[in-house]
Amino acid sequence: MSEKSPRLRAELDGIPTYKPGRPAAAGGPVAYKLSSNENPYPPLQGVLESAVAAAGNFNRYPDMACTGLVNEIAERFGVPVEHVATGTGSVGVAQSLIQSTAGPGDEVMYAWRSFEAYPIIAQISGATSVQVPLTEGDVHDLDAMAEAITERTRLIFVCNPNNPTGTAVRRAELERFLDRVPSDVLVVLDEAYREFVRDADVPDGIELYRSRPNVAVLRTFSKAYGLAGLRVGFAVAHEPVAAALRKTAVPFGVSQLAQDAAVASLRAEDELLGRVGSLVCERNRVHETLLAQGWTVPDTQANFVWLRLGERTAEFAAACEKAGVVVRPFAGEGLRVTIGETEANDLFLHTAGAFFKGL
Ligand SMILES: Cc1ncc(COP(=O)(O)O)c(C=O)c1O
Repeated sequence: MSEKSPRLRAELDGIPTYKPGRPAAAGGPVAYKLSSNENPYPPLQGVLESAVAAAGNFNRYPDMACTGLVNEIAERFGVPVEHVATGTGSVGVAQSLIQSTAGPGDEVMYAWRSFEAYPIIAQISGATSVQVPLTEGDVHDLDAMAEAITERTRLIFVCNPNNPTGTAVRRAELERFLDRVPSDVLVVLDEAYREFVRDADVPDGIELYRSRPNVAVLRTFSKAYGLAGLRVGFAVAHEPVAAALRKTAVPFGVSQLAQDAAVASLRAEDELLGRVGSLVCERNRVHETLLAQGWTVPDTQANFVWLRLGERTAEFAAACEKAGVVVRPFAGEGLRVTIGETEANDLFLHTAGAFFKGL
């Protein structure tokens, strides 16, 4: 009798694998990880204490409804509690958003290049990805996206600011785009890096969502709030979208450690946003220095910069690594570098200056 392997869904064939940012190599001279857009600051003492206290009960399941956290988010952002849905990182919520809207035969649209989880989670649902190229300036081409909408489009991600380019779309163009999207197509404004935005013309998605039932906003505690390892993110969305997210979320997907640390982070927001301010200063310094060195770098509103190096991407990534900084190359396209500790940024800038001279 021939043994057959379990039948798996054909949709999973050829699915791209998510490439996490590489950690710094152990044993190197100095090694900084600038490859995952993480927050370089260690946890605040009070936040750490709340997670440690929660750890004392990890024989128990967490609060499945994330009641305390949802209340805190609703109050902080001035939205109804029913409009808040939490998940295992914002990528978990993004996956629920697709599962709630799109299956085989449906289309999920997003700019490309953008957050590399989008094609993966779209394909897991069996939906078809529609990738609309960024403009020459590495910004979302919202006109082209509006034109690419078909009757099969179910969900559109607008990653603002965009990962990995850092570029952001502004209020007028985004509103014009939203006006063109049919009301039965969900637009997800992925604002994982919202707290790093300093351009006043880049709109806060939560303001846009209020009057638009087909707009949902994704936020995370992983970046500005420094809880990447605890896995908690959320969406703000109208009913019935928020209710669908609660149905499709992995039950008990947000640990009590994550819930309590997220609540403590919201309560310590002033201090955390002060750190974000320092990172924004560093970002501006890195950006300006790169421009002064002669690089072409798009304006960034996030905690990273994007260098479109084309065929020389791998070579520059290797030079950075040799110098002690691990960056995130996208082979043949470009390289994303997270803003980290001042010493790490200096090391990167030094390497970039030397490399540019050899171009
Ligand atoms: C644009 C964007 N959205 C969502 C995420 C997911 O973050 P998390 O799942 O940690 O909340 C990331 C992480 O890098 C991101 O860059």
